[in-house]
Amino acid sequence: MRPGLAGIRKAAVQPRARRRAGPAGIGAVLVVALAAMTMTLAACDADSPTAEPAAEAGAKADRGAKAQVNSSADVNAKANAGAEAQANASPASGPMAASAMKVAAHETGQTRAQVYESVRQMSALGKQLFFDASLSGSGKLACASCHSPDHGFSPANSLSVQLGGNDMHRTGMRAAPTLKYLQSVPAFAEHYHESDDEGDESVDAGPTGGLTWDGRVDRGSDQARIPLLSSFEMGSTPAKVTAAVTAAPYADAFRAAFGEHIFDSDDATFKAVLQALETFEQTPELFYPYTSKYDAYLAGKAQLTKAELHGLQVFNDEKKGNCASCHISQRTMDGAPPQFSDFGLIAIGVPRNRALAVNRDPHFYDLGACGPERTDLKGRAEFCGIFRTPTLRNVALKKSFFHNGIYHSLDQVVRFYVQRDTNPEKFYPVSKGKVQKFDDLPQRYWANLNTEPPFDRKPGDKPALDEAEIKDLVAFLNTLTDGYKAGNKPGNGAAAN
Ligand code: HEC
Ligand code: HEC
Repeated sequence: MRPGLAGIRKAAVQPRARRRAGPAGIGAVLVVALAAMTMTLAACDADSPTAEPAAEAGAKADRGAKAQVNSSADVNAKANAGAEAQANASPASGPMAASAMKVAAHETGQTRAQVYESVRQMSALGKQLFFDASLSGSGKLACASCHSPDHGFSPANSLSVQLGGNDMHRTGMRAAPTLKYLQSVPAFAEHYHESDDEGDESVDAGPTGGLTWDGRVDRGSDQARIPLLSSFEMGSTPAKVTAAVTAAPYADAFRAAFGEHIFDSDDATFKAVLQALETFEQTPELFYPYTSKYDAYLAGKAQLTKAELHGLQVFNDEKKGNCASCHISQRTMDGAPPQFSDFGLIAIGVPRNRALAVNRDPHFYDLGACGPERTDLKGRAEFCGIFRTPTLRNVALKKSFFHNGIYHSLDQVVRFYVQRDTNPEKFYPVSKGKVQKFDDLPQRYWANLNTEPPFDRKPGDKPALDEAEIKDLVAFLNTLTDGYKAGNKPGNGAAAN
């Protein structure tokens, strides 16, 4: 058999540490965004009323960055310092933002305080935009409608795919993912090689990175364009967005941030909106706080229950769940907290979700990286059926799982992993006594399917996990929910599922 991508990724599925701040993802654009704002900022008076708090905040952000760098000797201290620096600092002052500020300040001749202030302004605007339904064609849909802050920025409801479009009755083909912990998603690469201090540079980890399930955009601003313009999501246009922002209560703040004449051009306004949204998505305390029970456990500040600990073992065990081979659970070599994803694009043969309108057409397939939403890899068979490995942080707050939202509980998801090959009839349709395995991926692409444990079995084999192990694994997944406070009942977040 031809060594497909599954083969390539084989070498890459050892639990290896990846650096927290990736080269692209949501973070890198901050520099560009800031550079674009130079004109406005140059006009900024040094003794404006905002200068002093901004300077203070800038210094805070700086301390945060230093805390990250200095404490590398002690792994525990390091993760704490990172989390604390992030928690203490004001919006967008995490490690990434801090280094972006350095670059921006250098390139534009601004003081750190000035740059910091512009980031703060942009984040605040981005937040208002994120919750503003008037940006949509229907006037009813905001980013937050599908990415609810109370649900780890994933949907509040349990629909497989969300409703949108001008009549609020249209649907797409994918479940809305969490927006948390996207800051370390690297830019999409067909052949991803880790840097030397991340792992083994010589290993080709296969297709990795990029935003959305198929990795088709690298930047938060490019991503935000998709739902705003999509006919089945927000269904808007640059002109409508500009009209909405011009009439919004934050119109003056928008002018203050982007220039008096920003509204003269729909395109310029639209771009500014995208930048502000992207900057907001980098707010550390909202989007990557690292405050789960598991983070507290890694820092030595909380104990896992017996069930959670056993679940973690099962999660890591290469012969059992083997989950950590893709959903990395260990700190990176330089001590940064794990992201619970290696960001690889992988085919695991999720069943066809027959409840989706698009799937009424028997010839329609969502093939992930090879299309139809993504177009640059069209016709490249080796990219068909692969989707980006999502983070499992806050996964217990989700109500629909996998790219097509087919499952609605973690228990179902885990069962799919451990029984897909031993009891395929539980997951795929059976026709004339024959199981239609991998019914959402045409057979010519089956070489792309992953065959590592727990996907290394056949009917009649013992499933990788027994009932008790499944239960404990789910208990462990519940420790990945942010907002844990010591003294909370064990398995914080368990109620959400
Ligand atoms: C109708 C529901 C809906 C709305 C409204 C919506 N999104 Fe999404 N969002 C999705 C879906 C579905 C995906 C996955 C898309 C895909 O894979 O093609 C997604 C993906 C994303 C991602 C990439 C996540 C990842 O894991 O790579 C980001 C970032 C994002 N949305 C931000 C936004 C922003 C910003 C807005 C507002 C401008 C917004 N979304 C509005 C449903 C929505
Ligand atoms: C070979 C890599 C790989 C392994 C091993 C793996 N996963 Fe995944 N995981 C993925 C990919 C890829 C997806 C998205 C698949 C899709 O939607 O098509 C995913 C999705 C998920 C989701 C859904 C998350 C969401 O936001 O919808 C959960 C939960 C999950 N995995 C848990 C686990 C558990 C538990 C294990 C171990 C039993 C495991 N995974 C093993 C790659 C892997």
